[in-house]
Amino acid sequence: MKFNLRAYRFNPEIDEKPYFKEYTLEDYPGMTVLNALIKIKAETDGTLSFRRSCRSAICGSCAMKINGISKLACKTQVSSEIEKFGTVSVEPLSNMPVIRDLIIDQESFFDKIKEIKPYLLGQREDDGREGFHILKEGEKISQPVYYKSEFKNLTGNNDTPNCILCECCYSECGGVTGNAKYLGPAALAKLYRYSEDPRDNDKNGSRLVNGSKPDGMWDCVHCQACEEFCPKGISPVRTIVKMHERTIKNSVIFSKGAKHVISIAKSIGETGRLDEVKVAFESGGISGLINDLPMAFGAGLKGKIPPIRLKLIKDMDDIRLAYKELDLEEK
Ligand code: SF4
Ligand code: FES
Repeated sequence: MKFNLRAYRFNPEIDEKPYFKEYTLEDYPGMTVLNALIKIKAETDGTLSFRRSCRSAICGSCAMKINGISKLACKTQVSSEIEKFGTVSVEPLSNMPVIRDLIIDQESFFDKIKEIKPYLLGQREDDGREGFHILKEGEKISQPVYYKSEFKNLTGNNDTPNCILCECCYSECGGVTGNAKYLGPAALAKLYRYSEDPRDNDKNGSRLVNGSKPDGMWDCVHCQACEEFCPKGISPVRTIVKMHERTIKNSVIFSKGAKHVISIAKSIGETGRLDEVKVAFESGGISGLINDLPMAFGAGLKGKIPPIRLKLIKDMDDIRLAYKELDLEEK
């Protein structure tokens, strides 16, 4: 069956602006979008530029937007795209500048990965457990000394070691679109991956501290796009939420985000209600209150002024019980 493939084209050396070029080709059973692009490049238009390597969904290099969604071209069947959209349209990933055609500049993405120190820090000390052994210089060992159960936080949809750095999550992330400095889902999932690795020995908690700085984990907007579009089934947003919990439990609470969460929990725990004025003050201080003034003014104009003094809600005992059950007290 013949089908049309519409490709984004832009060569900054000769084109004033990007445009789409349409190619017609023959589908065959099992043809992937990457197969189609390779065929065009080999037989029709050698100038069409894109990245690819493994053709097996393990190197992450062929990520692009296919019919508007960030995907791996080697994992996407032409037939399923035709079935859903009637055509195949390919564009470069979002949130990164285009170098040429479907090739994006990955520098900002990898700079952020480097920023979180994607390697094991320090060396864990022998804690006396059976099977634990630190190698001496020159000593060799034939078996790993870590137990599978120790990696339990790195499995399921927290399976961050499976990340192939394809940038699909980064391309779909609303947080990065709104703030180019935001670390983004892949770097934060990596931060979690190394923090939870039993071999890591970050004694000073520097990962959590660095990840809590502005443009870090607290800038996640929880849009869930990273979970929805990750081709490896990883949920960076879940790892971010877990790190939020960790930072608060470990008293890494200098960030506005952590203060905001603590203040909301306190307000609900004390009165059963959200004290918006107090939360704004406790999260951002006087400057936070001043920054929120235009919004408060707008809300006031619509008759939504929060009460200065909050009364306890009727079922406050139930709220306190729920807090106790959820272990939210004193956090
Ligand atoms: Fe790609 Fe998933 Fe890793 Fe994001 S988390 S870079 S979508 S593999
Ligand atoms: Fe390696 Fe597609 S070519 S993931």
